[in-house]
Amino acid sequence: MTTPVTVQFEKTGFEALTDAEGRVALIVGPDGKLGAVAKRLDRATRGAIGRALQGKAWDKLKAGDALDLSYPAGLKAEAVQLVKLARRADTAEARKAGASVGKALGEAGVVVLAAAHPRAAEIAFGLTLRAYDFALYHTAEKPAKGAVTMLVDDPDATSAKAAPLMALADGVCFTRDLVNEPANVLTTTDFAERLAAMREIGLEVEVLDEPALEKLGMRALLGVGQGSESPSKVVVMQWNGGRKGDAPFALVGKGVVFDTGGISIKPAAGMEEMTMDMGGAGVVSGVMRTLALRKAKANVVGLVGLVENMPDGRAQRPGDIVRSMKGDTIEVINTDAEGRLVLADVLWYAQERFKPTGMINLATLTGAIIVGLGHENAGVFSNDDALCNAFLKAAAAEDEGAWRMPMGPAYDALLKSRLADMKNSCGRPAGSITAAQFLRRFVKDDVPWCHLDIAGVALPPKETTLAPKGATGWGVMALDRLVRDMLEG
Ligand code: BES
Ligand code: MN
Ligand code: ZN
Repeated sequence: MTTPVTVQFEKTGFEALTDAEGRVALIVGPDGKLGAVAKRLDRATRGAIGRALQGKAWDKLKAGDALDLSYPAGLKAEAVQLVKLARRADTAEARKAGASVGKALGEAGVVVLAAAHPRAAEIAFGLTLRAYDFALYHTAEKPAKGAVTMLVDDPDATSAKAAPLMALADGVCFTRDLVNEPANVLTTTDFAERLAAMREIGLEVEVLDEPALEKLGMRALLGVGQGSESPSKVVVMQWNGGRKGDAPFALVGKGVVFDTGGISIKPAAGMEEMTMDMGGAGVVSGVMRTLALRKAKANVVGLVGLVENMPDGRAQRPGDIVRSMKGDTIEVINTDAEGRLVLADVLWYAQERFKPTGMINLATLTGAIIVGLGHENAGVFSNDDALCNAFLKAAAAEDEGAWRMPMGPAYDALLKSRLADMKNSCGRPAGSITAAQFLRRFVKDDVPWCHLDIAGVALPPKETTLAPKGATGWGVMALDRLVRDMLEG
């Protein structure tokens, strides 16, 4: 696992900036006006900062972007970074400003002058997220990132504001680590152990093994994992920070630690990306971690189905018929449509055991959602307008792309099977929607539910504002906010 970069808040002063041997970053308004301390720093550089702020390059910068002055005369620092951010900047702009600093962070560290900026905590949050680096397997030892000090006028107040955001950053980075890990490291057993370790931060964690799942009748889930050497597991994480005895809200995640496709095997090109097929489970785990770290006043249960989809002499075949925990039978047309089989049983179990007030599941479920929405938006499917709109609002506030997709009986009809109650795959048309309809059959009518298809956003092909290339942790921020708005409000 990686350790997120932490930010130390200290009282605004001049010496910390002139003593800095790494980088220095100044948060400056678009007008280029400097505060008292920054003015002194400008004098120390014999006006280099002021001249840069009068140039074209500064004018062209958008909110949150930055400009570098390398080896400024008069300072020990290796660079001064001028970060454009108005005092009235919104959350996204402030995080982006922090990300500009975090992206440039090296081993010598950085001292950031934020002074009285009202969004200093959000700047620190963006910095931490963008400084994330999954470098565990680069053997030519990459030097660790240096210390981050942020100079603010009121360190105590800023630290207090930053605390829940740092819990959130920790959760996001936990998710990213899980998604970035290769499948020979993150086996179902290793995944479950990492979740069990969260007992230390106050989560109640249970690990259900194959005999337990067999007893519960989860044959849909077990069928997916039966070709793998790694035993299938369901992990239940409970955070009960709300009123005692109140029914929880449930989060459910697809945790396919590797998806070869099974007997309906995938083509070789790009198959290595299927290490991220546990992305839904990763997000659920990251959210639970954040809720525990910030001691959320809400009852939330997170359930993840951990399996590996492998071809083998014991693997499930196309044409097999399995009975789900609910009792419905499923004809397995395509062993590569495995995520819905896993989720069907975990969704049903979540409802039977916890009678949740609502339920959101996340899954890297279909390639079709990438065809439809690319890497900009996750697909949102729901049986309940109020829950769906609350989620979309939270996602928009956190700048995490999410777009609602249609559902309906005509799509459900496509699941009809000659031999069983339904089939698990029905071809290319509306592939993401038929997958959602399949899941909906395992959701009780009176349970408000959303399905988030995150195949396109969990591991996009390029870096994003807040993440380097690799896993994003998409959804942790939106779900943390949803819990805050809907359950803690
Ligand atoms: N894990 C894949 C979906 C996926 C594709 C995630 C690309 C991330 C990137 C899923 O299990 C799958 O294989 N879905 C099939 C369903 C089809 C067989 C009905 C697909 O999308 O092709
Ligand atoms: Mn698959
Ligand atoms: Zn899959």
